[in-house]
Amino acid sequence: MRQEQQILDYLSTGVVELDSNLNVTALNAASQALLETSEARCVGQHASKLILQPRDWLDKLEQALANNSPHASRDMCLMLLSGQDVRVDVIITPITGDKRQPSLIVELIEIDRLMKISRDESLMYSHETSRAVIRGLAHEIKNPLGGVRGAAQLLARELPDSSLTEYTGIIISEADRLRDLVDRLLGPKQQLNPLPLNIHEVLEHVQDLITAESDNQVRIERDYDPSLPEFPGDRAQLIQAVLNVMRNAVQAADEPGSCEITLRTRCQRQFTMGARRHRLVCAIDIIDNGPGVPEEMQHTIFAPMVTGRADGTGLGLSIAQSVVSQHGGLLTCDSIPGKTTFTIYLPMDNEHAKAT
Ligand SMILES: Nc1ncnc2c1ncn2[C@@H]1O[C@H](COP(=O)(O)OP(=O)(O)O)[C@@H](O)[C@H]1O
Ligand SMILES: [Mg+2]
Repeated sequence: MRQEQQILDYLSTGVVELDSNLNVTALNAASQALLETSEARCVGQHASKLILQPRDWLDKLEQALANNSPHASRDMCLMLLSGQDVRVDVIITPITGDKRQPSLIVELIEIDRLMKISRDESLMYSHETSRAVIRGLAHEIKNPLGGVRGAAQLLARELPDSSLTEYTGIIISEADRLRDLVDRLLGPKQQLNPLPLNIHEVLEHVQDLITAESDNQVRIERDYDPSLPEFPGDRAQLIQAVLNVMRNAVQAADEPGSCEITLRTRCQRQFTMGARRHRLVCAIDIIDNGPGVPEEMQHTIFAPMVTGRADGTGLGLSIAQSVVSQHGGLLTCDSIPGKTTFTIYLPMDNEHAKAT
């Protein structure tokens, strides 16, 4: 591979090179991802074949070439061949030189993704902060609780009237209830034990658990990318994270029989998470057809103790997110009625997962 091409592939900005006839001569990995296409499909094709809209896209290219002057459009909405819209800033730069034919470099900077990254990151940090506060608080409650329970036990033994032990019994059982709650708030305590794992094996295992729990009522579709390599991860904790997300999908359904879940895995190149750019990231989509996350809850569901269910604890997603972020990854949610997608992004090039 040419070295320049390799460097271009590391950029998160889409770069497309066009010749003087506006045929594509090269395009980097980011533009292939953005335009949902591949090098094989595009090189040699006319620029008009890259997108459906806007129609004046060609005029802009032709003008830049004819006038030999650069052009920039902010916040342009491109309609891809799939019908999907993406919002981008576009910069068109003509390149002329003595020895070569004039050509154009088109830079495509995706806006939605930048906004999403900053939103997801600020959410991730705010949840890490609230988890740290809850952890601190939970420890503060646990210590005196042990003392209260021990004193109640001693008192029970000293009480002259056995009918009074009913009260010490209440103190002890309530202290136990509170300790259980605090333990759940503290979440998984184990250190991460990352070993090479096959993510599809993890997903198959969780499917078996969900199928058993739901009495085989839930329909699960798989859409796996078979070329995904093994990467380091803590199997038990990732099972817990995926299970928490899938259980929510089942619980959100009006009845288990109507619940359909799609598990999709994909490989993404050049992806930024937690201020680190990763060359290769595994994206796991868990998509359900349920009623969706109510709009007013969409920004808070990852926070501990936020629940929309009468018997919920609000800990499932908070634990899942903490597991994923310990792996250096990201957990996001996009939800409209009938289609809720939780996506777990895990770095595949991660030598040292972040331990907390
Ligand atoms: N797939 C989903 N569809 C609809 N709502 C969801 C989904 N996943 C999570 N939620 C909402 O997010 C809330 C928080 O989930 P979670 O942290 O697992 O806690 P819990 O399940 O104990 O309520 C749920 O109570 C529910 O309101
Ligand atoms: Mg839950």
